[in-house]
Amino acid sequence: MHRSPDSSASASRSEVRQPWWRTAVFYQVYVRSFADSDGDGVGDLAGIREKLGYLHLLGVDALWLTPFYPSPMVDHGYDVADPRDVDPLFGNLADFDALVTDAHALDLKVTIDLVPNHTSDRHPDFVAALAAAPGSPERAKYVFRDGRGPDGGEPPNNWHSIFGGPAWTGVPDGQWYLHLFAAEQPDLDWTNPAVPADLETTMRFWLDRGVDGFRIDVAHGMAKAAGLPDMDRPDRKNTVPDPEGGQDPRFDVEEVHGVHRLIRRVLDAYPDRVTVGEIWVHTDDRLARYVRPDELNLAFNFRLLQADWDAEAFRDAIVDSLAAMDSVGAPTTWVLSNHDVVRHTSRYSRGADERTGRRRARAAALVQLALPGVAFVYYGDELALPNVELPDEALQDPVWERSGHQQRGRDGERVPMPWSGEKPPYGFSTAAKTWLPAPDGWADLTVEAQLEDPHSTLSLYRRALELRHDHPGFGGPGLEWFTGPEGCLAFRRPGGLLCALNASTEPVPIPPGKILLASGPLGDDGTLPSDTTVWLI
Ligand code: NOJ
Repeated sequence: MHRSPDSSASASRSEVRQPWWRTAVFYQVYVRSFADSDGDGVGDLAGIREKLGYLHLLGVDALWLTPFYPSPMVDHGYDVADPRDVDPLFGNLADFDALVTDAHALDLKVTIDLVPNHTSDRHPDFVAALAAAPGSPERAKYVFRDGRGPDGGEPPNNWHSIFGGPAWTGVPDGQWYLHLFAAEQPDLDWTNPAVPADLETTMRFWLDRGVDGFRIDVAHGMAKAAGLPDMDRPDRKNTVPDPEGGQDPRFDVEEVHGVHRLIRRVLDAYPDRVTVGEIWVHTDDRLARYVRPDELNLAFNFRLLQADWDAEAFRDAIVDSLAAMDSVGAPTTWVLSNHDVVRHTSRYSRGADERTGRRRARAAALVQLALPGVAFVYYGDELALPNVELPDEALQDPVWERSGHQQRGRDGERVPMPWSGEKPPYGFSTAAKTWLPAPDGWADLTVEAQLEDPHSTLSLYRRALELRHDHPGFGGPGLEWFTGPEGCLAFRRPGGLLCALNASTEPVPIPPGKILLASGPLGDDGTLPSDTTVWLI
């Protein structure tokens, strides 16, 4: 492999001392599914606290906890009835404080979800809005409108919900309210000053308790186009990149940036904290606008997660993402999986088998962890967990019902973490029945089974995170690209680390250098096998 003429100029930028989050590895804990301390079959805060030693050993820098607030759990916590408390299912505020204290003692940061776009329909404000008359101040916190048609019997516009079906639900007095997600998740009206004021109270509540930052749910969603005009393409999918797509009046509306400036102002009063936005937009440039210097610190970058198993697709994703984020001075983030998408081990198995999917997942992890910026690891990535095909009767995601059983939803990537033992639920809970069933056949995937095995995916992650943390080869921003055989990619960090991926079907020569780590066995003849990544110095 040799140096290509398009080597990144940003590689030569001088280094300054950076805040912790610019290079951090975050670990996403899907709270329901991580560890159950009280035997009710659902993960909880005390369970996470018991596993902090494991996370420390794994070598991540920060946790992102999915919502644990009081909630009817229609969308498993993303329907928040009280954003300033803990649902008894997950524990209480004392459990949360103890978790933060213990995490900090291990030098682990704790970030939590903020859900500013909507509340639960059981939130007292929405209950009051339903009880109040049309035009009342109570209704003005949400998006209530009269219907269309001669008797107002049709929804106010043609928007549909991300979970399927119309984005409007009618109430008995004839008005309709907007919900971009489930009907039990009414959208807030961000033009009403009471709404940002309440979010600020929530942020301060948790910042004062010591959280290190927030993941902002649907961070492209709070502002809606003025007048709520019809969509010209009501079939469009919010999560599919579509540079030609034109404006979607539901998302990425200019005024949403005012919300992020407000969030930033609150955060700036607390040193060393971070915000990361969940932002599904159609181009990298649109994404970069959310992390301009007075807005969010980080934005989830879903380009790698959306790329097929293809070296060129990976390289394009990396080059474009770095350029977009460089243009606003923000670090790039890298995500392979989360609680809303099929796990990458299973995505990479499509058209192949699960063994191949696992090999590719390991290779992708070494690409992800070699890149400059921030990495997000979803719980179980470090075990190469696949998605689970759950039986119909086990499905819990509202998507299943709202789509009229057309879409199975996201439960397959949310199955309880396998910790130990031979049988479900593999040490996750003492309950035989867990909120989602763990499958048979995972005995080899448990933490216990992988911990002492030097060839396991868990050992690969531990070593990779250790090197990323300690080795000077990972220093500096930007990348230098090398051209190489078809189906391969190779880049060098300014600190000297060379990362080479062979995503082709044939072995290729290993680039020169000392091998630091490889995602799988290397050829005896000095070759890098198919679906393998190697780190060299
Ligand atoms: C994005 C979250 O990641 C997803 O799980 C949730 O259903 C929606 N936002 C609605 O809050």
